[in-house]
Amino acid sequence: MASACYHRYLNPTAQIIVLDAGGQYCHLIARKVRDLGVYAEVRASETPAAELAGARGLIISGGPSSVYDPGSPTVDPGIFSCGQAVLGICYGQQVMAHLLGGQVERGEKGEYGMAVLDLDASADPLFAGLEGRQRIWMNHRDVVGAVPEGFRRVGRTDTCAVAAMAAPARRLYAVQFHPEVVHTARGTEYLSNFVFRVCGCEPDWDPRGRVAQIEREIRECVAGRNVFFFVSGGVDSTVAFALANRALGAGHVRGVYVDTGLMREGETDFVRRMEGVAVEDAAGQFLTALAGVTDPERKRHIIGEEFVRVQERVIESRRLLDERWILGQGTIYPDTIESGGTAKAAVIKTHHNRVAGIQRLIECGRIVEPLKSLYKDEVREVGRQLGLPEELLERHPFPGPGLAIRCLCSDSCAPVEAAGDGWILPVRSVGVQGDARSYAPVLAIDALDHEKATELANRLRGVNRVVGRVAARAPIERMQVHACAITPERLNLVRRADAIVRRLCHQSGYDRRVWQFPVILIPLGTGDATESVVLRPVESVDGMTAQSAPIDVELLTRICGELMALREVAAVFYDLTHKPPGTIEWE
Ligand code: XMP
Repeated sequence: MASACYHRYLNPTAQIIVLDAGGQYCHLIARKVRDLGVYAEVRASETPAAELAGARGLIISGGPSSVYDPGSPTVDPGIFSCGQAVLGICYGQQVMAHLLGGQVERGEKGEYGMAVLDLDASADPLFAGLEGRQRIWMNHRDVVGAVPEGFRRVGRTDTCAVAAMAAPARRLYAVQFHPEVVHTARGTEYLSNFVFRVCGCEPDWDPRGRVAQIEREIRECVAGRNVFFFVSGGVDSTVAFALANRALGAGHVRGVYVDTGLMREGETDFVRRMEGVAVEDAAGQFLTALAGVTDPERKRHIIGEEFVRVQERVIESRRLLDERWILGQGTIYPDTIESGGTAKAAVIKTHHNRVAGIQRLIECGRIVEPLKSLYKDEVREVGRQLGLPEELLERHPFPGPGLAIRCLCSDSCAPVEAAGDGWILPVRSVGVQGDARSYAPVLAIDALDHEKATELANRLRGVNRVVGRVAARAPIERMQVHACAITPERLNLVRRADAIVRRLCHQSGYDRRVWQFPVILIPLGTGDATESVVLRPVESVDGMTAQSAPIDVELLTRICGELMALREVAAVFYDLTHKPPGTIEWE
C-alpha cells in the first residue's frame, strides 16, 4: 500500500502533536515547533487520547468553527485528564473551555488583526518571562466568557476578557491569540516555553541531517523500479527530482514539464536547461479549455482537469504505466491539508495535485513523495545540502494554475461606482475572513495608505480588498470593466507586465525584501486601453498570513512608467490589503 510508503517518512516519535481543528494555522504551529528543533506532526482533532499518549505535549489549533456549530471539531476529553500537557490556541482555547465546563460566548463582530495583550505577572512555566503588555495577533469571532473551574485568567485585551487562561497543576493552558503567527511579537517565546518548559521536550530535529535517510527511503519505496516526475520548475519538484536522481541514479529518473502556456516569461526555458527533463507542449489545449470561462473557481477546476488529461497522455504515450515506473511528486507536508486533504480543513485554495488521476496512483501504491514530511523552509535546507543554486531555492512561490488566476475575467460589462471613500471596482477578487474564501468587489482609493486601507477593509461590508491608485490615463469613475475571458493577448499582456516588474525588482534588490510579488491583470479601462495592472507585493513567512509590503517611491515610479507605456494598460493599482482579509492571489 502507498500509505506504508508515506508513513515510513514520518518520524513515529513526534514529541509534539498538533490537533487540527480545521484552521489554516495548524501547519504553521507544527512548523514553528520544528523550527525550535523539536519534531512535531499534525493529527485530526478527534484522534483518541490513547493514540496520542506517546507525545510529550499536544497543541489544539485554531479553526473557523464555533463550538456551538453542529459537527464542529472537538477533541477527545480524555486528553485533559491524563496528565499530558495541552495548549489550546484560538478555537483550541474555546474547545478546551467548552469541554471543561467554562463558557464560550458567541462573538457578534469578531476581532481580526493586531491587539495589545495585558499578561498578568505569573510564575507559570508557559508565561515565564512574558508578563506585561505586548503586541499579539487575533483572528476570532467567539470568545471564552468564563474560564472552567480550576483555571485562572492570565491575560486580556481591550475587547477579549479571556485572552489567556491556565491550570498549571493540570498542565493545561490556552490562549485566544495566535503565538504561531509572526505578527505576535513574542509568539515564539510562548511556543518555546510550552515545548521546553512545560513539556520538557529534547531537541531532536534538523532537516539538513535528513538527506541520507530520505534517499534510503526513496530507494525502499521505489523498490527497483524507475521514477518519473512532473516538474514545475519550482523549488519543491526540483528538490524532489534532484533527491531521486541522487538516490537512484540519473538513468532511473525522468522528468516531464507541462508547458500550460500559463507560465511566466522565461520559465519554460529555465526548465529546458534541467538535465533529464522533457517539455510537453500543451498550451493550445489549456487555452481552448479556458475559452469563454469567466468564473474563477471554474477556471481553477478546468486547469486541474486539463492537467490530469495531459498527465494521463504523457503517462500513456511514454509507456510509464507499466510496472517498471512509479510517479514521483514534490508534495510537501502542508499540501495535503491545503487541498482539503484532512477531514475538516476549510478549503483555503484548490490545488491540482490531489485530483482523481493522481489519487488513483496513490491508492495503488505507485507514487513516491520524498518531501512529504517537510515544510518549505526545510525543503530549501535540503536543497542547499544538495548544492542546488540559491537562485532556484530562493524563487518566489508561483501558483500551479499560473497566470490564469492572475488574469481576472468578467461575464458582463459594469461601470465603476463612486463610493464615499473612493470607487468600487466591479471585479470579483477572493478574500479570506475567519477561514472561509469569498469573492467580492474591490475598493480603490487615491492614497497609498495602509492604515486607511485596513480600516476601510474592516469597516465596509461586501469589500475584502482595498487598492491604491498609482497611475491612470483617465479618471477612474470614467472607466469600466468589460466582459472578457482568458485570451492569448491578455495572457501575453500579464506575462509582459510580470516580466517588467520582476526585472525592475531584481535590479533594485526589492525581490529579496518581499516574499512574493504577484502582478494581476483586471479588465478595467477606457477606450483602447482596456486593462489595468495591480501590484501585489507581500511580506509573509509562509503565505498563510501576509502583509501588503511597502514599496520605495522610486521603484514604484519606474515600474509604473514601464507599465503605463504598454498601450493596453489604462491604470496601475497597488494592493494595500493584508491577509486576512485579502488573500495573496486575486482568485
Ligand atoms: P493565497 O492566495 O491563498 O495564496 O493567499 C497563498 C500562497 O499559495 C499560493 N497559491 C497556490 N499555489 N496552487 C499552488 O501551487 C494553487 O492553486 C495556489 N493558489 C495560491 C499563492 O501564490 C501564495 O503563495
